[in-house]
Amino acid sequence: MRFLITAGPTREPIDPVRFISNRSSGKMGFAIASAALEAGHEVMLVTGPVCLAPPVGAQVVRVITGDEMFDAVQSRLAEADFLVMCAAVADFKPAEYSKNKIKKRNAPRAIALVPARDILSSLVHPKKKITIAGFAAETESLAENAQKKLREKRCDVIVGNDVSRMDTGLESDDNELVLFFRNGETIAMPRENKLVLARKLVKIFAQLAEKS
Ligand code: CTP
Repeated sequence: MRFLITAGPTREPIDPVRFISNRSSGKMGFAIASAALEAGHEVMLVTGPVCLAPPVGAQVVRVITGDEMFDAVQSRLAEADFLVMCAAVADFKPAEYSKNKIKKRNAPRAIALVPARDILSSLVHPKKKITIAGFAAETESLAENAQKKLREKRCDVIVGNDVSRMDTGLESDDNELVLFFRNGETIAMPRENKLVLARKLVKIFAQLAEKS
């Protein structure tokens, strides 16, 4: 099976030296890429800026902004059987980009933001069926918010992730997940190392793709 996996954060530039981003390390997405390769799948890995060595055997595409990530995913979607949107895409971007560094003495009192494109919601789907796993990074009402994303983002499964804790989730080597499927089924995955969880996820994803 061909997996298209996104990982890491995106960055939205304010000026040539500053940007808006988030705490995503890319560890979960890279772990899923490693686990998929281990299981004999092909992997295209679209990653935002991270400090990780990509797994050997993956076709790696490096991007910075959300628009670049959208283009990289959209242009490879038809080649994929399974899309894993693990990336923490920035939701807002500065309304204006300053092509020169903003000098301290001219510091703006506020930076106007506009919504960035939602990649999952704006993908144009090819004719063939592509099974899609989204992630839901939540600090409250995990089940309710994840189920809403499952419906609104046209995913086959949503991997819910509590990002309010420092010992799991963002930047951590461990994670604790809950999977939400379209038929209402859920699977809870207690805290474990991200690679161990990724191996379980890849097995579940492959089974789901076979059923769809
Ligand atoms: N996602 C996306 N494009 C965005 C933001 C998120 O495709 N601009 C994808 C993520 O990769 C993930 C899913 O949508 O698979 C949910 O992302 P999340 O950050 O949890 O939610 P948001 O859509 O940003 O919604 P909210 O900020 O309300 O939680």
